[in-house]
Amino acid sequence: MKNSKILGTGASLPEKIVTNFDFEKKIETTNQWIVERTGIEQRHIANNSETATKLGASAALKALQAAGLSVTDIDMLIVATATPDKVFPSTACLIQEELDIPAIAAFDITAACGGFVYGLSIADQFIKTGHKQNVLIIGVEVLSRLADWTDRGTCILFADGAGAVVLGPTEEQGILSTHIYADGRYKDLLFCDNPLATPDSDNNFIRMRGNEVFKIAVKTLSNIVDEALKHNHIDKSEIDWLVPHQANIRIIQATAKKLGMSMEQVVLTVAKHGNTSSASVPLALDEAIRDGRIKRGQLILLEAFGGGFTWGSALIRY
Ligand SMILES: CC(C)(COP(=O)(O)OP(=O)(O)OC[C@H]1O[C@@H](n2cnc3c(N)ncnc32)[C@H](O)[C@@H]1OP(=O)(O)O)[C@@H](O)C(=O)NCCC(=O)NCCS
Repeated sequence: MKNSKILGTGASLPEKIVTNFDFEKKIETTNQWIVERTGIEQRHIANNSETATKLGASAALKALQAAGLSVTDIDMLIVATATPDKVFPSTACLIQEELDIPAIAAFDITAACGGFVYGLSIADQFIKTGHKQNVLIIGVEVLSRLADWTDRGTCILFADGAGAVVLGPTEEQGILSTHIYADGRYKDLLFCDNPLATPDSDNNFIRMRGNEVFKIAVKTLSNIVDEALKHNHIDKSEIDWLVPHQANIRIIQATAKKLGMSMEQVVLTVAKHGNTSSASVPLALDEAIRDGRIKRGQLILLEAFGGGFTWGSALIRY
């Protein structure tokens, strides 16, 4: 069995930036409240032409370039998104067409904020078993289209963007393990109804019982990072970087504390990006790889948690 390793990463963000001060003018909130409770200072919001397809394709091209590969080298394309441009074809098919990628396996997965780690896990299995060579995994969201701009408990949190990773085979170490889970019993704590199925629902926007989500996220993420370490017989002191889902700075701080890591070893983009769901981990990963913080050979831990609930982790020798 081969291992899979990260060959290249890419990112794409909408041009428009909305700051907390912009929200102060529209809803009853303050910059201070948002920063203290979430760590978010600003977020990128897509215009009508910045679709999931366009953002995803743009991040994918940069990841391919970083990997030194062309579109014909890719033999599987996985898109994690809760905000596809169409019911079908999948966003993966739309991005495939946009990038002119010949016939390959291409599909979307819906696992909300856990989606990118799910995609990474699926791609890893295909590469390890030799069924696929180079797999493109994209996490992309245009969550602003699902925001209730009158609900101050959610509209300040969620945002838009795309991150992409190319995974390929290696004889050396790469992805050491991935761990993915879901528990549908929590479906009512964080959800968005489908307006096609329930046109009269009051919940055709993101709905969240934030405080309950917060507590479960902290507990679950602690358990899953423990599991990843135990599985690989690795001590927490060996981890160089934590690349967490960027939902809330306080959830991230709690996970870092549990790992005994200083915040200097945590890749943080929540202040600039807000919560971009399945795009948040690959966006953070790309930033820290491109600015030279994450170096080849280092040990990195990815984790995510989101609606479903879904959650997962990946321990990676970069
Ligand atoms: C959403 C979140 C930031 C709210 O913070 P919180 O400390 O839990 O706040 P609460 O929801 O308990 O609300 C506390 C008060 O702040 C108010 N509030 C909520 N949003 C506000 C805002 N944007 N500005 C000012 N006040 C706000 C509430 O109305 C409430 O007021 P009340 O006490 O008068 O009823 C936090 O719960 C959170 O981050 N949850 C998890 C998010 C997450 O991880 N989501 C998805 C996983 S992908």
